[in-house]
Formats: sequence, structure tokens, C-alpha cells
Amino acid sequence: MRNVTKDNITDVFRSYMAEDMPPRTREIMSALVQHMHDFARETNLTHEEWGQGIAFLQGCAAVETEDRHEFVLASDVLGLSSLVDMLHSSETATSSSVLGPFHVSGAPPLAVGGDMKRDFGGPVLLAEGVIRDTDGNPIAGAELDIWQTAPNGLYASQDDEQDTFSFHGLMTVGADGRYAFTTVKPVEYTVPSDGPVGDILRACGRHPWRPSHLHYIVKAPGYKSLVTEIFPDDDPYLDQDTVFGVRDDLVMRYHEKPANEFPDGMALSGKVNDPFLSVNFDVVLAKA
Ligand code: BEZ
Ligand code: FE
Repeated sequence: MRNVTKDNITDVFRSYMAEDMPPRTREIMSALVQHMHDFARETNLTHEEWGQGIAFLQGCAAVETEDRHEFVLASDVLGLSSLVDMLHSSETATSSSVLGPFHVSGAPPLAVGGDMKRDFGGPVLLAEGVIRDTDGNPIAGAELDIWQTAPNGLYASQDDEQDTFSFHGLMTVGADGRYAFTTVKPVEYTVPSDGPVGDILRACGRHPWRPSHLHYIVKAPGYKSLVTEIFPDDDPYLDQDTVFGVRDDLVMRYHEKPANEFPDGMALSGKVNDPFLSVNFDVVLAKA
């Protein structure tokens, strides 16, 4: 096509795609370019403004490392990660939520009833529940991968003071599907905002805070793996999570209980002398 115009350029792009390309790639590229072109036409995007867009992408690439995933973070704060999550979340299972960049593979085994708090300060949180199928039956042998921040709001990979796997654990449940562990109550924290994503947040007048949460990945053979989070219902950032991860069914009450109600059969049984917090959260997995 020689006479490319601002009005026909999107169709011209489509006409350049090969007839025999995979249909799904065609669908995605066609829609992506349609929306990009519409965005430029709708906003009458200038060279200078698009230059800033390119500089943002270059800035993300420049700060990417093994431990710093700026493109993922951009997708998170723009709501795209959560939107993709919700598009593929099963209606009858526990909602999924953002993975985030701080999951570490190879976490050490954590026995049912085990402790992740160790000597860290802060209130003991006892988290427990049953991993079930959508009919309510426990899923024997399900695997629960847990991670969270330390009381200073940092994940192990962000903090030289913590060992690689602090506040990370991998639990395999028994025939009753029940999981239980103690930890320290997570705190709200900020996503990294010292790079290009922070510039976007500031340009939009937004803060970088996330409500406090525990992260879970739950897996069992024959079921769809679930990436999710649990939030306490009194967190000040519940209604303004900067990565859009909060769903109604993931918001739980953390009940305060006296020390003498701390249950037997836990690693910390007999060692809790102050009131502790307790949250009960059953996880429902959909069939694969
Ligand atoms: C997190 O919850 O760990 C997280 C999620 C998205 C972006 C940054 C952190
Ligand atoms: Fe997190």
C-alpha cells in the first residue's frame, strides 16, 4: 500500500500479516495494534509524548535484573496482571490474585503446624484452613507454597538482613486437607517506586502501598493451580491496593485470642504467652 493514511493504517497493518500465521497470534496482534492506533488517534499523541513512552520502556529494561522485574511491576500497577487473573479465575474456586515478583522457588518444607515467625518481633498469627475441591471435599496431599514480608515490610530477596528463605515455606497437607502454620502478622508495604514504575505512579498522583497479605500458591494433581493472597479486613489500604489484588473472598477477619487458647499440636504450642491473632481461610481449587 502506497497511500497509507492515519485512517487506513490499521487495516494496512492487518493486510501485511501472512495468511498462514497462527489464528490466535493474528487475533492478538490485530487487536493490539488496533487499540494502540486508536489510542494515538484518540489522544492525538505527539512525538514528544510517545518519546516519553519509549523512554519509560527503555527505563524498565535498564533496571531489570534477576531480582527486579520492572515490566511485571508495570503490568501490576497498570491493572493488567489483575485483569488477566480475573479473566481466567474460576467462579466456583477461591479467587486468584497477583503473584508479584517476590516468590522464590525451592522454599524449605514447612510441616503442618510449623512456624515461620522464628525470632522476628510482632504479633503471632496462626493461619489455618482446609484445602478443598468445589464440592467441599478435602484435597489430600495438596501443596501450599507460602511467602510474605518480614515485619520491616521487606521480602527476603530485598533484604540483606534475612536469609534467602525467611518467611517462605512449602507445606504438604495430609488426608484431611488441613494446613496450619504460625507466622508474624504481615504488614502493609510499598512496591518498589524508585524506578520508572514509580515515575508512572507519581505522574498519576498514586501511592505505592499494598495492604498487608499472605501469599499462597496452592497445587494438587488434577486441579488448577491457584495463586492467591489473604488480606485482613481492617487494613487501611484494602480499598486502594496499588496492584488491584483485593477480592471480596480473600478478605478475612484476624481474630485476637488469649494466649491460653493457642492450640496444641503446633510448633509454638506452649510457647505463646501473649494474645495472638488467628485467621481461618479455606482454599477451594477447581478441577483442571
Ligand atoms: C507482592 O505482593 O509481592 C507484589 C505484587 C505486585 C507488585 C509488587 C509486589
Ligand atoms: Fe506481596
